[in-house]
Amino acid sequence: MKPTIKKTDKINPNDNLIIIGSKKSDYSKFRFSKDETGYIKNCIKNKDKQISINRYKCWVYIILADEGKDKFQKLELIRKVAYKLHAAVKARKLKSVCVTDVAGNAGNVFAFAEGLALSNYQFLKYFKDAKKKESSLSEILIYCKKFPTKEADKLNILLEAVYCARNLVNEPLSFLSATQLAAEAKDLCTKAGCKVEIFEKKKIESLKMGGLLAVNRGSIDPPTFTIIEWKPANAKNKKPYILVGKGIVFDTGGLSLKPTPGSMDAMKSDMGGAAAVIGTMYSIAKAKLPVHIIGLIPATDNRPGQNAYAPQDIIKMHNGLHVEVLNTDAEGRMILADALSYAQQFKPILVIDLATLTGAATIATGQHGIVAMGTASEKIFSQLKKSGFAVYERIVELPVWDEYDEMIKSDVADIKNVGGREAGAITAGKFLQHFTKYPWIHLDIAGSAYLDEPGSYRGKAGTGAGVRLLFEFFEKI
Ligand code: BES
Ligand code: MN
Ligand code: ZN
Repeated sequence: MKPTIKKTDKINPNDNLIIIGSKKSDYSKFRFSKDETGYIKNCIKNKDKQISINRYKCWVYIILADEGKDKFQKLELIRKVAYKLHAAVKARKLKSVCVTDVAGNAGNVFAFAEGLALSNYQFLKYFKDAKKKESSLSEILIYCKKFPTKEADKLNILLEAVYCARNLVNEPLSFLSATQLAAEAKDLCTKAGCKVEIFEKKKIESLKMGGLLAVNRGSIDPPTFTIIEWKPANAKNKKPYILVGKGIVFDTGGLSLKPTPGSMDAMKSDMGGAAAVIGTMYSIAKAKLPVHIIGLIPATDNRPGQNAYAPQDIIKMHNGLHVEVLNTDAEGRMILADALSYAQQFKPILVIDLATLTGAATIATGQHGIVAMGTASEKIFSQLKKSGFAVYERIVELPVWDEYDEMIKSDVADIKNVGGREAGAITAGKFLQHFTKYPWIHLDIAGSAYLDEPGSYRGKAGTGAGVRLLFEFFEKI
């Protein structure tokens, strides 16, 4: 359950209390007893990072947050400590905790509440004893004068958005078909105030989205193409921003069936880009950010079927280019290409696509980074990178040098859908570039969208990667 974040203007004597401080802080204003004060001093001397005090009716925790090279790393360490503390909160079945910072630092309190709340996420839909398994924490009180009420609202919205994105990623194909993904996007984003339109197969055919239709050919379910728009009267931009999310609801590889053992095991998460776009659109609309923004989600599963598209097929795409398919497992770029081409008519100021696009991106950064590339200005890239550090969904930029185009030249068509063994994340991006005529950024979130092991506030399985990053980016822009 998502805990509710609430500001409070007093600490009640029986509140479970979490105090963020440092080893040099003065804790006397919290009226610790003599024994407690001695214990705290001792813990600090022992270089403990977390001090727990068990009172008759409540727990008091002191978090010593002294480390971190810069502002952003400090905040991340606080989120991480929050994850560690969450285990104690859960084990002790605490329902409510009150978070404060000795020095009144609102940023620290925000980061701690964020880390704690994100750690509380569970996906329990398919357990009969879900209620029993549910973690106890349902409320996080914020005691901090400098913490704006608006920030509490924002945090609630963001948490909601990340939870929704994680739920979508965690839903298997048996529930989340392309049609269901579109319905979920519509339900969620309409509630937040967006206009949502869903194109079904007939419409997709009439639009000649050859890439999306090709990937869908092996499927027994129809594809969808969803358009989510947030256009407030006070929008600061004349031309829209556009987000495009890869919505492969399951990726078997198609006829080029995924070859290595285990490589299909997490492929329900291949709509992580779509989940990020849905979550971001939800949060932007819910927070009423003054920005005109459109989300596009091409969706289908990718599987071998009697009519499946085959290697050496030549596919005519939405923008008229012909693509030689040499590996049906390079399907993400096929459906994204059509969406990127469709985006052109809106004359966007910037298009950002998010996709679990390549294993090569995972090889490059592991789970700790997002691979970015594109044609947007350096200024935009540096703003996005800064947002990356702020929320710790960090971005590393790869080049889109012309030379890489040689690798996706085809003997029989305009381009081919694979570029060989080297530079796999880049050639995938270069492929997409052929369908863009506007400032564009491609984010390959293959490494961070889904985690096999628990171990951080990002959760196990779906992480909701991209939502906090993009909200931060658009809020700052
Ligand atoms: N969805 C995969 C990429 C992926 C791999 C995401 C691992 C998350 C974890 C994508 O559709 C894919 O299969 N890419 C291929 C491309 C190749 C055939 C050129 C890959 O990366 O192996
Ligand atoms: Mn694939
Ligand atoms: Zn894929």
